[in-house]
Amino acid sequence: MYVCLCQGVTDGQIRDAIYEGCCSYRDVRETLGVASQCGKCACLAKQVVRDTLSEVHNGQRTAGFAEFVAA
Ligand code: FES
Repeated sequence: MYVCLCQGVTDGQIRDAIYEGCCSYRDVRETLGVASQCGKCACLAKQVVRDTLSEVHNGQRTAGFAEFVAA
């Protein structure tokens, strides 16, 4: 899904940027140029960043737990 039409940035690209090292909305914005023109996508872009960062953090925390339960 396109998040930023001005820059042609998708939610997948935002997620990839976070998995590749971006750790904040500011990092994503500087890397992908999201919300750098009309700014209408800023709220959605922030939401995708927030959701992805919490997935990353929760994934790291629960990975060991999931292995423990599966064992
Ligand atoms: S839609 Fe992202 S800057 Fe315009």
